[in-house]
Amino acid sequence: MAPKHAIEQQDNRVTLVGLGPMGLALAEALLNQGHSLTVWNRTPGKADGLVAQGAGRAQTVSEAVAASPITIVCLNDYETMYRVFDLATAELEGRALVNLTSGTPSEARTALAWSAEHRVDYLDGAIMVPPPSVGEPDAVFLYSGEQGVFDRHHAVLTSMGDPRHLGADIGLAVLYNTALLDMMYATMNGWLHATALLESANVSAQKFAELALGWFMPSVVDYASLAERAPDLDAADYPGTLGTLEMNLNALEHITRTSEEQGVHSGPPRLMKEIAEHAIARGHGGQNYLAVYELFKKARPRS
Ligand SMILES: NC(=O)c1ccc[n+]([C@@H]2O[C@H](COP(=O)([O-])OP(=O)(O)OC[C@H]3O[C@@H](n4cnc5c(N)ncnc54)[C@H](OP(=O)(O)O)[C@@H]3O)[C@@H](O)[C@H]2O)c1
Repeated sequence: MAPKHAIEQQDNRVTLVGLGPMGLALAEALLNQGHSLTVWNRTPGKADGLVAQGAGRAQTVSEAVAASPITIVCLNDYETMYRVFDLATAELEGRALVNLTSGTPSEARTALAWSAEHRVDYLDGAIMVPPPSVGEPDAVFLYSGEQGVFDRHHAVLTSMGDPRHLGADIGLAVLYNTALLDMMYATMNGWLHATALLESANVSAQKFAELALGWFMPSVVDYASLAERAPDLDAADYPGTLGTLEMNLNALEHITRTSEEQGVHSGPPRLMKEIAEHAIARGHGGQNYLAVYELFKKARPRS
C-alpha cells in the first residue's frame, strides 16, 4: 500500500459518486493518499469495504456533495450523471465537479452548459488505465476545462494518477481518449488479423509473436519513427520517393486475396484496401502511404 501523503494542512475532503470497478479503484487511491473521503452509490453495499477503511457513506447524493469542495463522478454514462445530480444542484453550487465518466465531446459540452447553469466548476476527464493501475504515479488521467479549476484541485487529481490538462476546450479529454482507443483497437485488430492469417497454416500465435512483436513491430512499424513523421501530417507533405500509395495498394490487395485464399475473414484488409483506393482516386497515388490521412480528414465537413 502506498504511503499516505501529508496533505492534512490543506482541505483534503473529497466526495466520490459511483462505485463500479473503476469508482472503487479511485476510492482506494484517494484513501491511500490520506483524503477524507465521502462516497455515494446507488447500491450502498458496494461502499462497505471503503467504510471499513474510514470512508464516510452518504445517505443521499446531496449529503455526499455537501461533504466536500470537490465531487468526483465515475458513473456508467452522462445520462446517469444527470439523473443522479439533478437531485443535488443546490449543494453543487460553488463547488467543483470532476466527471470521469466516458462519453463524447458533445456530451462533455452539454455537461459544461448544465454546470454553468447551476454555477458549478466543471472539469471533464478520461481515465486511460484499468482499475488496478489507478493511483500509480504514471497512471494517465486526461482533463479538459478551465485551467484555474484544474490548478485548484491538482492535489486531489494527483492522488488518483498523473493528471494531464489538455486545454480549455471541454471536449478535448474525451476526444483524446477516443482517438487513443481508436489507435489501440486498430493496432489490436491488426495483430489479431495477422495472427489469424498464420493460424490458417497452423502457426501458433506464440510462434508468430516472436517474429511479429519481437522484430517486425519494433523495427518496421516503429512508433518512434511514426513520431518523427508526424510533422509531415501537419504539413500535408507525403513524398513518395521511398514508396508510393500505388505500391501499398498492391500489398493491401495481396493481404485481401491471401485472406480469402486462406479462409480468413477478409473484411479488415478489404476496408484498408478501399481506403487506399479512394485516396488514389483523389490524386494521392504517387505520394507515400501517410497520404491516406488526407482522406481521413476530408471525410468530415470543415467548419
Ligand atoms: N473499468 C475500466 O476498466 C474503465 C477504464 C477507463 C474508464 N472507465 C470508465 O469509468 C466509468 C465507470 O466504469 P466502471 O468500470 O466503474 O463501471 P460502469 O458499469 O460503467 O459504471 C458503474 C457505476 O454506474 C452506476 N450506475 C449505473 N446505472 C445507474 C443508474 N441508473 N443510477 C445510478 N447509478 C447507476 C453503478 O451503480 P451500481 O453500483 O448501483 O450499479 C456504478 O456506480 C465508465 O464511464 C467507464 O467507461 C472504466
